[in-house]
Amino acid sequence: MNKFLISFNSKNLSSIKTDILIIGSGVAGLSSAIQAAKYGEVSIITKDKLSESNTQKAQGGIAVALAEQDSSEKHIEDTLRVGCGLCNEKTVKIMVEEGPARIKELIQWGAEFDRQGDRLSFTQEAGHSVRRVIHAKGDATGMELERALIAKVKQSANIKILEYAFVTDLLHKDGTCFGAVVNVKKDERTIVYARKVILATGGIGQVYRETTNSPVATGCGMALAYRAGAKLIDMEFMQFHPTTLYVAGLSRTLISEAVRGEGGILRNKHGERFMFKYHRDGELAPRDVTSRSILKEMRETADTRVYLDLTHLSSKLIKNRFPNIMEVCSSFGIDIKEDFIPVRPTAHYMIGGIKIDKNGKTNIQNLYACGETASSGVHGANRLASNSLLEGLVFGYRAGQSAGKDIDCGKRFDTTPDISNILDPVSARKLDIGDLKASLRSLMTRYVGIERDETGLLAVQKEINFWSSYVMGKEFSDIRDWEFQNMLLVAGLVQKASLIRKETRGVHYRKDYPKQDNTKWQKKHIELSDI
Ligand code: SIN
Repeated sequence: MNKFLISFNSKNLSSIKTDILIIGSGVAGLSSAIQAAKYGEVSIITKDKLSESNTQKAQGGIAVALAEQDSSEKHIEDTLRVGCGLCNEKTVKIMVEEGPARIKELIQWGAEFDRQGDRLSFTQEAGHSVRRVIHAKGDATGMELERALIAKVKQSANIKILEYAFVTDLLHKDGTCFGAVVNVKKDERTIVYARKVILATGGIGQVYRETTNSPVATGCGMALAYRAGAKLIDMEFMQFHPTTLYVAGLSRTLISEAVRGEGGILRNKHGERFMFKYHRDGELAPRDVTSRSILKEMRETADTRVYLDLTHLSSKLIKNRFPNIMEVCSSFGIDIKEDFIPVRPTAHYMIGGIKIDKNGKTNIQNLYACGETASSGVHGANRLASNSLLEGLVFGYRAGQSAGKDIDCGKRFDTTPDISNILDPVSARKLDIGDLKASLRSLMTRYVGIERDETGLLAVQKEINFWSSYVMGKEFSDIRDWEFQNMLLVAGLVQKASLIRKETRGVHYRKDYPKQDNTKWQKKHIELSDI
């Protein structure tokens, strides 16, 4: 496999130097930047505007053991139970126990969470044994989090921000990372030398035809790390969100699980409530169960959606808790106080990712990762709702601290390695990357989606290998094309891990192996690397 996407010679390119380079600007990247800046000069690079991220789109909230009736023990227990035997108990404990301090810090920095009187207000989501999820401006938690973190980042003289810059490759040699190759404008390429690099590029939802994710969630960080020799783990565990607004022509908009937490009911096209047929917790069954049950109802009723019914809830509750959802729906003539909301499951969260330790370190020297692009092991085989923002805060903090403490500021960049790459010349035939992208996304949705089996997974493997044979070695010069190369690589990893795990566990449902197999697969993780 090519170790780089482009031909370059570091000697011939302009360069800049920074202590810590952070790629990505969601909750994990910004949290790591705030910490790292205590130790050295930080540069954040992001391929879009600073606030564009999956964090920004998060609605439901942040799970944190701060309610009176709650405890760390209960939060740990819920996380482990939902994770189906695959969580890393040590990192779960760290996340849950350090979570309250991170939230209190955020509040000091100006984040405003919803309150009842002067106490934080907690909502219910699936899998939680108590009301544990804090939220902001009803259903705009991610936006408020991103706003508060950006404000804090902008206060630091030690943090530089470079927006609309695309990292084509990490600058790496023999298992060590020295920075990144960055395309600043269409034809302007530069090397950013860094003592430490933190990847915080978010998820991979765009690899699927329908997703709740931001358009930037194309798996670039995972692909960068993989090409540099990093280990990726648990890539078979792609979580689908059961309720995404289904209005043809509109990009899929999340309808928060908190809607069901506050009493929303799922109905099929005949108006029948169906979730209790599938699980004793009804609408608050684990996400994987809910998504599969919805698919079944859609098939049985020959419909392309099911419906979320809030009409029995008070108008005041709906207005206070879900103002954004109400507004989006109303722009399509759906009054959620009176009409059912058409919903169906879509790709939502990649549980797997770049394997990290408790301080965000990868197996590549100087390379760290945090947030959705990384896998700290806290989510196991099924992520507990609203644990992801907490993970981003806690492990973003840890990665920033750890990278910062290790930068060894005394030793500036006296020598920088010469690294170069030449790609084989390939056919100049023009490719329609948009067509390839649409084909990949359909294929992944159909065969590596909520339900999988060997026949489908092998068909995907064949197509991905074929497309890769003429896409991967070709040198492109456009961001969308490089993104597609990253998507193709990451899709191949999801397919590969899904084929290897011959059992059903958490979000990974194999129609041909429909049971959890504890004799062969308990505690087993699938690690993929190109070394
Ligand atoms: C939601 O609001 O339903 C999303 C929360 C999550 O994915 O954790």
